[in-house]
Amino acid sequence: MSTWANLCLQDSASPLMEQLIFFHDHALLILVMITVLVGYLMFMLFFNNYINRFLLHGQLIEMIWTILPAIILLFIALPSLRLLYLLDEINEPSVTLKSIGHQWYWSYEYSDFNDVEFDSYMVPTNELENDGFRLLDVDNRIVLPMNSQIRILVTAADVIHSWTIPALGVKVDGTPGRLNQTNFFMNRPGLFYGQCSEICGANHSFMPIVIESVPVNNFIKWIS
Ligand code: CUA
Repeated sequence: MSTWANLCLQDSASPLMEQLIFFHDHALLILVMITVLVGYLMFMLFFNNYINRFLLHGQLIEMIWTILPAIILLFIALPSLRLLYLLDEINEPSVTLKSIGHQWYWSYEYSDFNDVEFDSYMVPTNELENDGFRLLDVDNRIVLPMNSQIRILVTAADVIHSWTIPALGVKVDGTPGRLNQTNFFMNRPGLFYGQCSEICGANHSFMPIVIESVPVNNFIKWIS
């Protein structure tokens, strides 16, 4: 989870989030290079005295400074498309979790198992344990096995919500009347926190998501 003064992305807990961070760093590096170059050129313009009375057109330089940025943009567009299609790939999921957004809590259904469904509410600040995280902990956590492909089905019962876990690189809108699908693979155990990220009403800030990533046998023990 995010802690004090953490301005960067959270540590990844899934291969897809790792790729997203790589892409972020790659795009940022290109952005910094462009900003520095353009900033330097603009700054230097203030101090030059060169004047060319006969300058009307320069076909060559126009060609260069049109095509060069287009090529640079390709270096962002192609990795971006690769990532887009990787995120969409569903690879034989071993567990499916259905999460339904309500005003203002999430409810979950483990469709592979009989009668496993529960609501998950935020723990109010005055009921928080000493080791709890304010505005982030819930009364019933989602337990999911690590090192397994997990499919998430997201929908909503009233207004649009969004099921978002930064450490896993997951962000799916829950829309009434629609069923959205995504997947992830958790490569380490731990607690992964998320929040609703679609402005869904007065208590939008108070419907967090907590995933407990555990070894497979612990998950089987929990589910039975
Ligand atoms: Cu649900 Cu914002």
